[in-house]
Amino acid sequence: MDVLGIDIGGSGIKGAPVDLRAGELTAERLRIPTPRPAEPAAVAAEVRRIVEHFAWTGPVGVTVPGVVNGGVMRDAVNLHEAWAGTDAAGLFGGAVVVNDADAAGMAEMTYGKGRGEGGTVLMLTFGTGIGSALFTDGVLVPNTELGHLRLPGHDSAKDAEHWASDRAREEHDLGWQEWAGRVQEYLEHVTMLLSPSLIIIGGGVSKKADKFLPYIQVDAPVIPAALRNEAGIIGAAATAGNRRGTPLP
Ligand code: BGC
Repeated sequence: MDVLGIDIGGSGIKGAPVDLRAGELTAERLRIPTPRPAEPAAVAAEVRRIVEHFAWTGPVGVTVPGVVNGGVMRDAVNLHEAWAGTDAAGLFGGAVVVNDADAAGMAEMTYGKGRGEGGTVLMLTFGTGIGSALFTDGVLVPNTELGHLRLPGHDSAKDAEHWASDRAREEHDLGWQEWAGRVQEYLEHVTMLLSPSLIIIGGGVSKKADKFLPYIQVDAPVIPAALRNEAGIIGAAATAGNRRGTPLP
């Protein structure tokens, strides 16, 4: 079955139909810049535009960069404060709504490097923020929000993602090795807390893994994600398909 996956990020909203058996897009994706300010109504209008572009009448899965429970948002710090308490599922016409990192993790566990992996698998996405998806024997613990951890010895008012995300690398003009040092410190902390058996690194930086992973060593294997830019779209579709009982591979 095909499901339309839509991935809402801080800079772009991307969508495409996904073949759930193969975990692949069946048409070229459409990308629309995220409206600013990224208030719920403005973002919903772009989501609708994507649905109309593909003349879609089937199931839809949408990712959001924030905590979401039963379709209702707690927050989305990198979008707009008005998202707090918003019924995103209702706003998006009854779509299944899932946290962006949880979706990317779902995609990776179903079609990528996490396939068949038991134990505690931690997927971390490095982008505008740091997203996290935690799996225990393949089952997702949703909304873990590990990007907002505070690191020991750092400004206690600052989230780790302000220091170690890919945006921090760009904003502070860090070289790869210097940034890798920050990621190393962050990974040491999450490894101490969760003792993962595998850490998968996703987000835009995963395609440049050879530039920073050689500098990283923690008490768990750290590998780049297999699914790159499309992980959010595929994970959104897979989550929606899953909730409707569509068999995944
Ligand atoms: C948000 C998370 C999100 C992550 C990556 C964080 O700031 O709180 O929900 O997964 O950014 O977009």
